[in-house]
Amino acid sequence: MQPLIIAIDGPAGAGKSTAAQKVAERLGLAYVDSGATYRAAALAVLEAGASPEDERAVSELVERADIGLETDGVRSQVLLGGRDVSAELRAPKVTLAAAKVSRLRSVREKMVALQRALGRGRGVVMEGRDIGTVVFPEAPLKIFLQADPTERARRRLLQERDEGRAASLEQTAYEIGRRDQLDAERKLSPLVAARDAIVIDSTKLDSEQVVEKIVSLARARNLI
Ligand code: DC
Repeated sequence: MQPLIIAIDGPAGAGKSTAAQKVAERLGLAYVDSGATYRAAALAVLEAGASPEDERAVSELVERADIGLETDGVRSQVLLGGRDVSAELRAPKVTLAAAKVSRLRSVREKMVALQRALGRGRGVVMEGRDIGTVVFPEAPLKIFLQADPTERARRRLLQERDEGRAASLEQTAYEIGRRDQLDAERKLSPLVAARDAIVIDSTKLDSEQVVEKIVSLARARNLI
């Protein structure tokens, strides 16, 4: 039997990470945050002092970058040149640069190959933007998780404050809107739900309710 792959896609702040981690934990699968690979690529560009808008420099730098992702089932740890950069990846500068570098074909090809390798031979819950459409189109369970923009901004704000960043709701809402636009409007693998994805709106649900829905779907399809 093929190892189980659950794809969870959706916009920033819809609750993908929490849901994906909890589903992985419940089902004994590995958790993979595909966005972290784009963030690591962006960090490699910023550390080299290049502009994320400079397509040639970005392609060359990302081509050479040694990006690794280790997952122990619940947490994933991102390595850049063997160094653990997980904490640095959350900085707002990296977030914006990741949205920019992820538009490039060469970057996407390398990250998709890395993500497929992470799912090879074992069961995973992978979250991202194009997991159900591009990375694992054959995944037997695809979820598209969405929520109202205001609710996503509110959640992201709480997360940012937790991480010690002084953000305002206005600024966070602006940043989320900007990222939605970059993710949805890019030519390659834009953020869209796969045709066979189940759409879950988490605006009025807590993370446990979202997890329960996903686990029930997996059960109903005889995947667990
Ligand atoms: O999920 P995240 O916020 O960590 O993602 C960072 C950026 O990477 C985001 O702007 C979109 C991009 N991304 C992508 O293009 N494809 C994915 N599968 C995951 C993330």
